[in-house]
Amino acid sequence: MTKRTFHVWRGGGEGDLAEYEVEVNEGEVVLDVLHRLQATQTPDLAVRWNCKAGKCGSCSVEINGRPRLSCMARMSTFEPDESITVTPMRTFPVIRDLVCDVSFNYQKAREIPSFTPPEGTEPGDFRMAQADVQRSQEFRKCIECFLCQDVCHVIRDHEENKEAFSGPRFLMRAAELELHPEDTADRRKISQEEFGLGYCNITKCCTEVCPENIKITDNALIPLKERVADRQYDPLVWLGSKIGLR
Ligand code: SF4
Ligand code: F3S
Ligand code: FES
Repeated sequence: MTKRTFHVWRGGGEGDLAEYEVEVNEGEVVLDVLHRLQATQTPDLAVRWNCKAGKCGSCSVEINGRPRLSCMARMSTFEPDESITVTPMRTFPVIRDLVCDVSFNYQKAREIPSFTPPEGTEPGDFRMAQADVQRSQEFRKCIECFLCQDVCHVIRDHEENKEAFSGPRFLMRAAELELHPEDTADRRKISQEEFGLGYCNITKCCTEVCPENIKITDNALIPLKERVADRQYDPLVWLGSKIGLR
């Protein structure tokens, strides 16, 4: 058992960091230490968590400024004399302590039109190539932790962009459907004009923080951008749009 210094955000948006000396045991993760704080010093510390296995996406926080799942952040990965600062995700309003209001994400999810198969399609009517199945499966590993949404500079530092930008998680959803061979909706125009795809300048920070290692930028955002560019710069499509065909 050792003692470690933790700085933890307390209060709402106007809160502050509080310093604690807390016991740490071998094999523990940051969430274990937060639970020990609750049990011994701060019974009212608000922390969201559920599975403690990296699968529910509830325990997202920032640890020393980096968006991470607290249940997957091993204490053994910090330097022995390193103090550890735990703050709520910065991109969303703080409710209390480490808990944020992430309803922005649910609102953006509702704006993406759902899967639209050809009219009259019955279950079992179509077969998909393995490559198409695998693409969807990669995107569907998402645990909705919203760490990618938290880290993306487009909204992290610019509250004013939230209205016009869905964020990487939901642009990935738009890409999944746009690239789906049986989806009939054309999602290129709305991705650009309503979901703010053009705001993404491919910094790849979203990919770096994804605990499921989904290649959000390379496999979703860039292919979607390429399809949008095809639509915009294809002279036949351009002509069609001018004469009202598309
Ligand atoms: Fe979390 Fe990755 Fe899903 Fe983003 S894409 S919400 S980082 S699991
Ligand atoms: Fe943001 Fe990811 Fe693009 S971090 S800028 S959505 S590559
Ligand atoms: Fe479920 Fe961390 S508690 S992902």
